[in-house]
Amino acid sequence: MADIIDGRAIARELDKKTKAEVEALVAEGHPAPGLTVILVGDDPASEVYVRRKMAACEAVGIRSSEHRLPASTSQNALLTLIARLNADPEVHGILCQVPLPDHIDARQVLRSIAPEKDVDGFHPVNVGRLSTGTGGIVPCTPLGIMKLIGTVIDDLTGVNVVVIGKSNIVGKPVANLLLDAEATVTVTHIYTEGLAEICRQADVIVAAAGAPRLVRGHWVKDGAVLIDVGITRTKDEDGKTKLVGDIAFDEVQHAKAVTPVPGGVGPMTIACLLSNTVQAARAALNANTDVSNDYADAPARSMFTASGSTPN
Ligand code: GUN
Repeated sequence: MADIIDGRAIARELDKKTKAEVEALVAEGHPAPGLTVILVGDDPASEVYVRRKMAACEAVGIRSSEHRLPASTSQNALLTLIARLNADPEVHGILCQVPLPDHIDARQVLRSIAPEKDVDGFHPVNVGRLSTGTGGIVPCTPLGIMKLIGTVIDDLTGVNVVVIGKSNIVGKPVANLLLDAEATVTVTHIYTEGLAEICRQADVIVAAAGAPRLVRGHWVKDGAVLIDVGITRTKDEDGKTKLVGDIAFDEVQHAKAVTPVPGGVGPMTIACLLSNTVQAARAALNANTDVSNDYADAPARSMFTASGSTPN
């Protein structure tokens, strides 16, 4: 029987740490960290995500505020709001929920958020720093994935990891984090030829293709660790909505451990957002301090020091 990696429980532990860090900041006389979320339009899925993020902030003592803008909002108006939030010392983290309406260039908007307040880790400065192991804010889902893997594998040195998916939000950044932890990383995607055979070699599979039940039981070697990032809404035979991951969960009992969907990666993403916000608030106290996530519980080594980076 594969062990279930309980993302909800692991996220709760991280939230406890985040809450303690918030309390420490306040006890030192600083304002509680502040996160501002911007939601443009009325995409129902985004509304649910934003509501969850705001509730999670409250639970750990982060001050949260929300800017709800109509779908007709101009790009200039959005950029003006972000410029104001960038300059506001009470705001430590800014998150602009995507997708944005079609008339807005999301890349330009995400680039306009000050890198030190970019708690999503999407700004090119943070992306560049992640890929060179020189600090910055790490995107929440990849950070959560590293922490989940860290509960099962202490040391990723030489471990064969296959990432399925090449998105800027998950596939590419998690590959960078894994490389930094000295894993041997193969990045694949749905057009990769021989994907089943490549996966069969993997000690760890991170499935982030958004393709329901892509990874079948016979793709998985005995004792592998499986991280399922996929979350697709489908209907079962009774017409009831259910969430399906990228891994055929019922076929992988020969794995060492697997994340469930829901209850695996999802809760970690929000917990890492809160953690990033607190790190940003801490870093703002000293303009020369970089955001530096605590990797004691993740199998990564040289994440944030140029000197710790390996030459290869
Ligand atoms: N939309 C779906 N997930 C995310 C996320 O993590 N950050 C932002 N900004 N938008 C999203």
